[in-house]
Amino acid sequence: METKVNPHIFNADKKQGVYDAIYSRRDIRKEFLPDPIPQEMLLKLLDAAHHAGSVGFMQPWSFVVIDDLDIRKEVKASFETEHLRAAQNYEGSQKELYESFKLEGILESPINVCITCDSTRAGKHVIGRNSIPETDVYSTCCAIQNFWLAARAEGIGVGWVSILDNTKLKQLLHLPDSVTPIAYLCVGYVNHFSDQPLLEKAGWRKRLPLEELIHRNKWGNK
Ligand SMILES: Cc1cc2nc3c(=O)[nH]c(=O)nc-3n(C[C@H](O)[C@H](O)[C@H](O)COP(=O)(O)O)c2cc1C
Repeated sequence: METKVNPHIFNADKKQGVYDAIYSRRDIRKEFLPDPIPQEMLLKLLDAAHHAGSVGFMQPWSFVVIDDLDIRKEVKASFETEHLRAAQNYEGSQKELYESFKLEGILESPINVCITCDSTRAGKHVIGRNSIPETDVYSTCCAIQNFWLAARAEGIGVGWVSILDNTKLKQLLHLPDSVTPIAYLCVGYVNHFSDQPLLEKAGWRKRLPLEELIHRNKWGNK
């Protein structure tokens, strides 16, 4: 029988590139280099984000690129407040460990990018969003992941900071009512990408075994 070659498969190098980006992507919070990110490079990453899938092709995202140090200092102040608040969730050695983590690189990275979601972007009726309105946020997360992976391929580190007061962030960035900040990202070149998540390295949490997460037909069937 004639074996058919699937013409859509990437060649080996291209395929490896995709997996390399996925497996070596890391959340970066420290050791950012001060080197600026050239405008064309930033546009390339934002364009990768802009090519994510979105519900009803809604494209609900926008990108607020922040290099203003005064704004970043205010974001950092929000982080400090929220970080203290979060530390109250832990006790004893766990609290000590939590407090030892560096969980943002807001001032050290050369730029911050806030990826937002506009729930009104494509009008009242969006194909695919009628039953699950949160699909606008899901779509924005797809754009964020594209940005993160493209940045990794370009040797650029990205750190997601969610220890922030979103209401304050919205005010600081003058976001309109319908626009919500989804990801606040610290972006910059780095010398090093760890081979493991920093939280795994520090013994906070391990990667779960994949088999535990797969169910056959119904939850619990292995
Ligand atoms: C939605 C989201 C929010 C996150 N918020 C923070 C954060 O506030 N501070 C931080 O240091 N890392 C944050 N992270 C990064 C995670 O800690 C990191 O993705 C996880 O530990 C796995 O590590 P890896 O991204 O290097 O694989 C966030 C990641 C996601 C996806």
